Amino acid sequence: MVELINVNKSFKTRKGMKHVLKDISFTAEPGEIYGLLGPNGAGKTTTLRIIATLLKADSGEVWVDGLNAGVEDRKIRDKVGLLTGDMKLSGNLSPREMLKFFADLNHIPKEMSKRRIEELSEYLDMNEFLDRSIAKLSAGMKQKTSIAVSIVHDPEIIIFDEPTSSLDVLAVKVVVDFLHDASKRGKTVLLSTHVLSEAEKLCTKIGIILEGELIMNGTKDEILTTYESSSLEDVFFALAKERGLII
Ligand SMILES: Nc1ncnc2c1ncn2[C@@H]1O[C@H](COP(=O)(O)OP(=O)(O)O)[C@@H](O)[C@H]1O
Ligand SMILES: [Mg+2]
Repeated sequence: MVELINVNKSFKTRKGMKHVLKDISFTAEPGEIYGLLGPNGAGKTTTLRIIATLLKADSGEVWVDGLNAGVEDRKIRDKVGLLTGDMKLSGNLSPREMLKFFADLNHIPKEMSKRRIEELSEYLDMNEFLDRSIAKLSAGMKQKTSIAVSIVHDPEIIIFDEPTSSLDVLAVKVVVDFLHDASKRGKTVLLSTHVLSEAEKLCTKIGIILEGELIMNGTKDEILTTYESSSLEDVFFALAKERGLII
């Protein structure tokens, strides 16, 4: 489970301090797929990086599986698998070699790492290309490899930042199927997206973030009931219009 309570974050910029997260609070439970939905620059990546302890909140509390971010960051990292769109795989290593490398980084003992790689390869259907050079893999195969790398340490919390942007349909399916399955296995899944239809299809709970504020948080039905609307798209545009983000 992941819980954020009144999280704030500012960045220093040339024009002074920029307040990019404003009192963000939400909870994502095991078995849930929580989607942070918002336009570019809204604060999605910053939020996810704070949960993964790559950034520190200025104020507020972040709890990851009962561990306090800022205090127990090392333990939190063992529990979190993070996948970001800008992690590009290339080069002459094979997926197996890549996975071994990341298993070592995570201090997984040799015997266990061997077993884990076999298990992952089976689970993500990678056997056929496990020993091929990554440079020669299709987009879908590379995506499976990236996913495998991000979960080599079998994390309870799975965080995917814009996992499907710049992927073709087949590679998108790899991600979607994986996230569904992970949530069914009781993992806590968090993802960010700026694609509304994706959030609608994939997520059991949605947080709409605009200019660093979480202005809506709940299941799709809860959101539609609150706004007396029949489509998430209408709600999203109404909220953006209210804030002068669209004319
Ligand atoms: N390291 C940083 N320094 C200064 N500003 C940053 C930094 N990281 C992000 N920002 C700013 O914070 C805002 C939110 O960014 P981000 O969390 O990446 O948004 P999103 O992922 O929703 O597109 C943006 O205005 C971005 O320019
Ligand atoms: Mg982002």
